[in-house]
Amino acid sequence: MASERDTLPPQPALVQRAPTTASDTPLPDAFDPPPRTVAEALQQARSAGLDRLDAQLIACTVLGVPRSWVLAHDSDPLPTEHLPRLLDWLRRRAAGEPFAYLQGEKEFFGLLLRVTPDTLIPRPDTETLVQWALELLPPDHPRNVADLGTGSGAIALAIASQRPQAQVTAVDFSAGALAVALGNAKRHALGNVQGLQGSWFEPLAGQRFDLIASNPPYIAEGDHHLAALHHEPRTALTAGADGLDDLRHITRQAPAHLKPRGWLLLEHGHDQAPQVQQLLQAAGFTDVSTRFDLGERPRCTGGRWPGTQRTTG
Ligand SMILES: C[S@@+](CC[C@H](N)C(=O)[O-])C[C@H]1O[C@@H](n2cnc3c(N)ncnc32)[C@H](O)[C@@H]1O
Repeated sequence: MASERDTLPPQPALVQRAPTTASDTPLPDAFDPPPRTVAEALQQARSAGLDRLDAQLIACTVLGVPRSWVLAHDSDPLPTEHLPRLLDWLRRRAAGEPFAYLQGEKEFFGLLLRVTPDTLIPRPDTETLVQWALELLPPDHPRNVADLGTGSGAIALAIASQRPQAQVTAVDFSAGALAVALGNAKRHALGNVQGLQGSWFEPLAGQRFDLIASNPPYIAEGDHHLAALHHEPRTALTAGADGLDDLRHITRQAPAHLKPRGWLLLEHGHDQAPQVQQLLQAAGFTDVSTRFDLGERPRCTGGRWPGTQRTTG
């Protein structure tokens, strides 16, 4: 997860809401009567609260045309075969559904990944974690890597594609998410990725890795940002009263699964770096440091396991 949980996009106005009293009738559907031209569809989308660029992007994708076509042909009749999907997408987007779920895809580290409501939509800021991992994984060397809480497989697949000699194990407790991740690995012909279903280190009993990366849930229960993220799985987002439950668990358990001098890299909220640094130091990690995301916010903290101290937990 990354900055969209910290810096949220503006929320479009809802087209419809459920009546709360007998006299509280639903708002009229902005797309009734259905639009006849591209211009009418964009105008209705604006009335529904969608921003112009968002609506144009949806029109381009559904009609399969470039934006220049939408601008130049806005008085053309809308092809009827595209109308149901166009209206469905405009309505859903106006109700706050992320564009990536409408399209079913999101690009991450140069890979086009399938995303579904079972998976978090990968955020560009998570590329910071991948870049850091790649710096620590020499090309052409066999290395064992684990990605805990893989979701769509974003981190695991980015590493696997850049380091073909590495063996990458992707873990998620969501069967739906893991199926999407493995489908994405197949789509990109990444034979060096395996998936295991289970909670954090549970499916990794007895295994040790050169590098463990994780972007676990890290939003506090009750955080007001959650209201804007209700389309994404809650289990991918929240981790206890302070948002640190999963980061604590992973940090404490990681030493038992790292080779000597192996690395643990963790993504976290922009205000959680001091706590995550403390957690790593308390668990016995050395070389603890924090990296910043594209918006220059502290986003990932990692450390090296010396391999000489008693493992915790
Ligand atoms: C913030 S999402 C990150 C997804 C992906 N790695 C990314 O960066 O886009 C957290 C992921 O952790 C998974 N998760 C939550 N609790 C888990 C647990 N106890 N064990 C394994 N995975 C878990 C969720 O299903 C979700 O896919």
